[in-house]
Amino acid sequence: MNTDFRKSTVYQIYPKSFRDTNGDGLGDLRGVIEKLDYIKELGADYIWLTPFFVSPQNDNGYDVEDYYRIDPRYGAMEDVEELIAEADKRGMGLMFDMVFNHVSTRHEWFRRAMEGDPYYKEFFFFRKGKENGDPPTNWESKFGGNAWEYVEKFDEYYLHLFDVTQADLNWANENVRKEVQKIVRFWMDKGVKGFRFDVINLISKAGFADDETGDGRKFYTDGPNIHKYLKELNAATFGHDAQIITVGEMSSTSLENCYQYAGRDAGELTMVFSFHHLKVDFMGNEKWVLVPTDFQKLKNILFRWQTGMEEHNAWNAVFGCNHDQPRVVSRFGDDEKYWKESAKMLATIVHCLRGTPYVYQGEELGMTNADFTDISQFKDVESLNHYQILQDKGLSASDALRIVQIHSRDNGRTPMQWDDSQYAGFTDEGGDAPWIGVNGNHSRVNVKAQLADPDSIFHYYQKLIALRKELEVISCGDIHPLAENHPSVFAYRRTYEGHELIVAANFYGRTCQWKEAPDLTGFGRVIGNYAEESRPADGVWILQPYETAVWYR
Ligand code: GLC
Ligand code: CA
Repeated sequence: MNTDFRKSTVYQIYPKSFRDTNGDGLGDLRGVIEKLDYIKELGADYIWLTPFFVSPQNDNGYDVEDYYRIDPRYGAMEDVEELIAEADKRGMGLMFDMVFNHVSTRHEWFRRAMEGDPYYKEFFFFRKGKENGDPPTNWESKFGGNAWEYVEKFDEYYLHLFDVTQADLNWANENVRKEVQKIVRFWMDKGVKGFRFDVINLISKAGFADDETGDGRKFYTDGPNIHKYLKELNAATFGHDAQIITVGEMSSTSLENCYQYAGRDAGELTMVFSFHHLKVDFMGNEKWVLVPTDFQKLKNILFRWQTGMEEHNAWNAVFGCNHDQPRVVSRFGDDEKYWKESAKMLATIVHCLRGTPYVYQGEELGMTNADFTDISQFKDVESLNHYQILQDKGLSASDALRIVQIHSRDNGRTPMQWDDSQYAGFTDEGGDAPWIGVNGNHSRVNVKAQLADPDSIFHYYQKLIALRKELEVISCGDIHPLAENHPSVFAYRRTYEGHELIVAANFYGRTCQWKEAPDLTGFGRVIGNYAEESRPADGVWILQPYETAVWYR
């Protein structure tokens, strides 16, 4: 298989919503095996699966009860082994999702801690409350409410940065780190070719005090020992195998830390996910509001990370969608009139950047946000908590619902749309209803229709993925921002050993003019979303609604 991460593309699967083979309404591992040829046809090199380990599923598997066993709802160990072997036959590697900031409160370690076993109590953060009866600190859980849960029998609280059933692990305890290493080695021995480490930059806590100015994140984000812990994990496990790729999910991180997390010789990780570019429709860090996308900010952030990581020989993961995000075509594009054009435009911007692109299931079809109209259709713990919190703050139920419809993680979790049948081919007809509602637009947006259409979004992604393998200027080149202050154009130049690439996109649904566009003499168009080629005349490039094109010399 191709193991050069610069030339690779990763396909992300949320197994619960991908393909259900036994008609119980939940996606499963056999469903992933069944669809391997489809992923191969798209051209992906790695498949990242979100967690399918034993779990009460309060956070859809990010609350792990046992890292060594498969949740029977997803399948069995034999299915995992077969999946790894079948992917390998097709030249693809599996990448597993390791949740090590916290475990489910049903994990044996936590249960033993709750029995009062001092060895396991040290695996977590148990702390006394304040004199006045308040929790140890005022930190907020990322899913809403205070981040400490009271345990009466100890008269102590435990820390949970996420749901109350996700207890934070104490990485300062060497025994925790040893257990984590054991788990990683176990999956390496099974033939796993990569790891994604969930919110890994939150594992080193800087101490416990009230945050006078924020929600507490400054006490645990990119904490004091984070680089030490990652270097240690690397040296004890995947660092021995040059073929394994790793990506860290970095929450609210800084560029300065990311140089090191994903620096070429830092001995930490291969690459990082950062999220600042997906907060351009937030108010600061506040997600549960309705504000328009700040395009200038989006460009500034992406360019800053692109050039900053390049200067320090560090590597980005690049993406517009995942299981925690709304669908990018609904978010930054137009999922109606210019659905196809805008989906292709957004894909072009991401896939020609310097970094390893990630495609999230259904993104390659231009899948849109969920069409839910009632709160009962939403399943995500974060959405449901915030729906309540918004109303507690005085919003009406319908205003709260509107915000949830826009920002809910469930937008990315509706079943994969394989065909136009009752359940979109996720569950076969006659099976149980899928665990979360199928989008009504599956009659038109589905795999079957797009495989048959040479001009489909699917085929466009396929071509972008192939181009990254063909053109080293895409995989290895330097990046130079263009049109930095243009109100509608997103553009950049890539250069590599005398080769050049110009990527241009109109980010909006109105025709626009790009004055001072680059001279394209000697260039040829390698991909674009309009049949008719357009190029600058007298330095002015007129771009149609959502038009994008990539020119190469
Ligand atoms: C990451 C996951 C998300 C999960 C959270 C807590 O952000 O992507 O789905 O809820 O971590 O594990
Ligand atoms: Ca199933």
